[in-house]
Amino acid sequence: MADKKRQMKLAAHIHPTGHHVAAWRHPRSRKDAGRNARHYMDVAQTAERGKFDLMFLADSPATRNGNLKSLARWPQYMAYFEPLTILSAMAAVTEHVGFVATASTSYMEPYNMARLFGSLDHISNGRAGWNVVTTGNASASMNYGREEHYSHAERYARAKEFVEVVKGLWDTYDDDAFIRDTETGIYFDHTKIHHLHHKGDYLSVRGPLNMERPPQGYPLIVQAGTSGPGRDLAAQIADMVFIQEQHLDRCQQIYKDIKERAQKFGRSPDEILIMPGMAVQVSRTEEEAKREQAWLQSQIHPDVGRELLSAEMNYIDLSDVDVEKPLPAHLIPTGESTAGSRIVDLLKREGSLTVRQMYERFSGARSSHPIVGDPIQVADRLQEWFEGGGADGFIIQPSFLPGGLEDFVELVIPELQRRGIFRTEYEGTTSRENLGLPRPKSRYASS
Ligand SMILES: Cc1cc2nc3c(=O)[nH]c(=O)nc-3n(C[C@H](O)[C@H](O)[C@H](O)COP(=O)(O)O)c2cc1C
Repeated sequence: MADKKRQMKLAAHIHPTGHHVAAWRHPRSRKDAGRNARHYMDVAQTAERGKFDLMFLADSPATRNGNLKSLARWPQYMAYFEPLTILSAMAAVTEHVGFVATASTSYMEPYNMARLFGSLDHISNGRAGWNVVTTGNASASMNYGREEHYSHAERYARAKEFVEVVKGLWDTYDDDAFIRDTETGIYFDHTKIHHLHHKGDYLSVRGPLNMERPPQGYPLIVQAGTSGPGRDLAAQIADMVFIQEQHLDRCQQIYKDIKERAQKFGRSPDEILIMPGMAVQVSRTEEEAKREQAWLQSQIHPDVGRELLSAEMNYIDLSDVDVEKPLPAHLIPTGESTAGSRIVDLLKREGSLTVRQMYERFSGARSSHPIVGDPIQVADRLQEWFEGGGADGFIIQPSFLPGGLEDFVELVIPELQRRGIFRTEYEGTTSRENLGLPRPKSRYASS
């Protein structure tokens, strides 16, 4: 019998009003999305109707840094729900779609983290995931009693230890520890509870955790970070990696590199899924999609545009730069940091651009190559990357919400299904089952 055709995984990447910086001005976005629970529940139900694997909530434990007058025109990261709280509400109105919340290893305690994600996994019957971030936004430190952010190396070293501790806490009880036998009066088997007794370079946690082992064993572990330490961390701990690349060749390199790193750490390459972000503007016709995109671009105030570019270049001051002229030569970055390198790459690939043209390239999910087109064109691009060795699936980044996700579900999902490269029914109950990932055994299982 022929093998079942390989199918892509899909996550919906959610910023409250959408990914385009001017999304909140669109007539089909919800303006007060950042405090509107009904909005999130509606979006979750839309994603489930489209048989999405996951909803992914980006987050930061701080507002965006920068010029407040410009930020007042750009709501991203300025007014957000705490992700696990709102995901609990979304879990209550859905049955299949999974939920990934972003949470920082730099500004949390592992015991809290284990309880929060363990709870979400129980509440959702095995549909929770944790996007492990180390937090790039340096101003977060000042919300947590520190004058300075951790160094890059320290952040990643702490993250590695942190995730191991959290997994250790989830393993507190064996899977069969709870008997709840009313005859004998024994609630749980006291030989099946384990104390972690962890003392490491950064963390000290005794345990045990006051919670049954999560339905998935461990909630799904997601990582996003493409520096060397970021890739190594992903290769060791992640079930899924989010990347943001504009070109298939770069994506293929990272895909291969992360899978090879995983093998070096003794893991199977099939156990780590690589998911590039895809900014999508889909309409019934190409003309309509282009019109929508052009309208959104026209709604970017130049102050927001300058702020957007400034954030790409370690917040250098661009407030006096003329947006109708190219960026002055002395302000062009050298490409040493991940962020600056995107500007260098853009100019290398596209030659001379005005400042306005530059910021328009970063206006949706920091993506210089959004897919703007009809359902066939969107499906073509996804299929090309999926079958071209660049992706196991995608995180779809709709320009505006809820309208953009509704359009994707109505227009693109049926086309992917028709091509046999996306599911028509969920395969299992938990997120791991739907993603074809194994349920991790407890560290105490063999003893
Ligand atoms: C698709 C995607 C989504 C991300 N979402 C978040 C997020 O919600 N919060 C956050 O602090 N960082 C987020 N990041 C940033 C990464 O976690 C990481 O800090 C960044 O890529 C820099 O890491 P690096 O130095 O290892 O490259 C995201 C990155 C990508 C590619």
